[in-house]
Amino acid sequence: MNLNILTVPGDGIGVEVTTEAVRVLEHVCKKFNHNLRLSEALLGGVAIHKTGGPYPEETSKMALEADATLMGAVGLPEFDNWPPEKRPERGLLGIRKTLGVYANLRPVKSYPSLLDSSPLKNHLVDGVDMIIVRELTGGIYYGTPRGITGEGGEERGTNTMTYTRDEIARVTRMAFNLARNRRKKLTSVDKSNVLETSQLWRRVVCEVAPEFPDVELEHILVDNCAMQLILRPKQFDVVVMENMFGDILSDEGAVIAGSIGMLPSASIGGKKPSGAWVGLYEPVHGSAPDIAGQNKANPLGAIGSVAAMFEYSFGLMDEAKAVYKAMETVLNSGNTTADLKPKGTPATTVQVGEAVCAAI
Ligand code: IPM
Ligand code: MG
Repeated sequence: MNLNILTVPGDGIGVEVTTEAVRVLEHVCKKFNHNLRLSEALLGGVAIHKTGGPYPEETSKMALEADATLMGAVGLPEFDNWPPEKRPERGLLGIRKTLGVYANLRPVKSYPSLLDSSPLKNHLVDGVDMIIVRELTGGIYYGTPRGITGEGGEERGTNTMTYTRDEIARVTRMAFNLARNRRKKLTSVDKSNVLETSQLWRRVVCEVAPEFPDVELEHILVDNCAMQLILRPKQFDVVVMENMFGDILSDEGAVIAGSIGMLPSASIGGKKPSGAWVGLYEPVHGSAPDIAGQNKANPLGAIGSVAAMFEYSFGLMDEAKAVYKAMETVLNSGNTTADLKPKGTPATTVQVGEAVCAAI
């Protein structure tokens, strides 16, 4: 197959984890005889430095031309006091919107060798296997009006959480389809006891449900879901929710997986103007400026995102499985980065990338 992949390393540890993800990508392509064409573009803080803005036109063009995009991380402390529309994070929101990737799949699973890396009791974590489906191109992240107006005591910040029926229905169908091929249980998360957007959300999810009679559907309020994720995470199979709830709850998932460095994600559902499907693959973690450039960051979230790319963008299941399996082999060997609290000397970012390649 011809794979035309854009990499967008971004800021902080995004650069070093993407290097390892690309190492694995190249290794798999060589081994399985795929023709890989790589290009690289700017996004986030590095793009502000080099072009004046977080989301250069060129990046948007290249992402639309690529078959899939692999992102590292965005965000730098020097921009902490900048307004949202100028910050590095806006670049990520921009590329998600350009590609129309409305469903962000964030698998959270426990690896047997990492049970002790989670602060939760082993029996709670052992066997957890869920996918958080986060709506990614709507809701409060994008809604208008937004901004800060007025002054003094009347200065006012405004954001708008808004969803259309179609936006809810398409991500709901994506989640139902995933559940159908797994343990056939879908949990929809909302705050319908307070928010109108959530009332519409619940109504639309219920209307879509009869298309999937083989999948059991339940609804849960977001505050209760936050608690249940820690109390009884094994009850969840596929969990679907709006954008900001998904941002928050997926970080909680990191506690179950042992480290936020472990979590991959696939942002899918988008189509190019040509009609071709397109995907954006991004580890869940941020740019971690405190450890950037030190060869300490865990690249497995980024490497898992490469596996997800094989799976969702290209339907190359053998390649995806080879990567997932190699990741487990490396985890079992105990040769892991410091965030996973290995017994011996922690491995470096590069060592973990090389070990995954060696295990494939
Ligand atoms: C994530 C991140 C991003 C988000 C930031 C960096 C814009 O936290 O992917 O979870 O909020 O979507
Ligand atoms: Mg987040």
